[in-house]
Amino acid sequence: TYVIAEPCVDVMDKACIEECPVDCIYEGGRMLYIHPDECVDCGACEPVCPVEAIFYEDDVPDQWTSYVTANVDFFDDLGSPGGAAKLGKVDYDPPMIKALPPMGD
Ligand code: F3S
Ligand code: F3S
Repeated sequence: TYVIAEPCVDVMDKACIEECPVDCIYEGGRMLYIHPDECVDCGACEPVCPVEAIFYEDDVPDQWTSYVTANVDFFDDLGSPGGAAKLGKVDYDPPMIKALPPMGD
């Protein structure tokens, strides 16, 4: 799976959403999250993020490896919705994300 990391927090550019062929990039309160089981590893989202927040799971920089877990934890209560557009924005972030100070500009 691909993973969204810290640069997305409070930025949420959403260019990535337009590229995903399986609509598996979901909007939370402070960032977006890739569904680890729905992502088909096409990689189309990675180059379009203007803040370079998206990484293949094995390539996540060391300081952001906790985001691999955050992208999983976001779906604890949601399961596998099978499409972000129909679900819409979810006003939730895993505790680790919620606790971050204001980010971005
Ligand atoms: Fe976030 Fe980048 Fe997508 S800022 S919403 S991962 S385009
Ligand atoms: Fe979609 Fe990106 Fe995965 S475009 S299928 S979330 S690699």
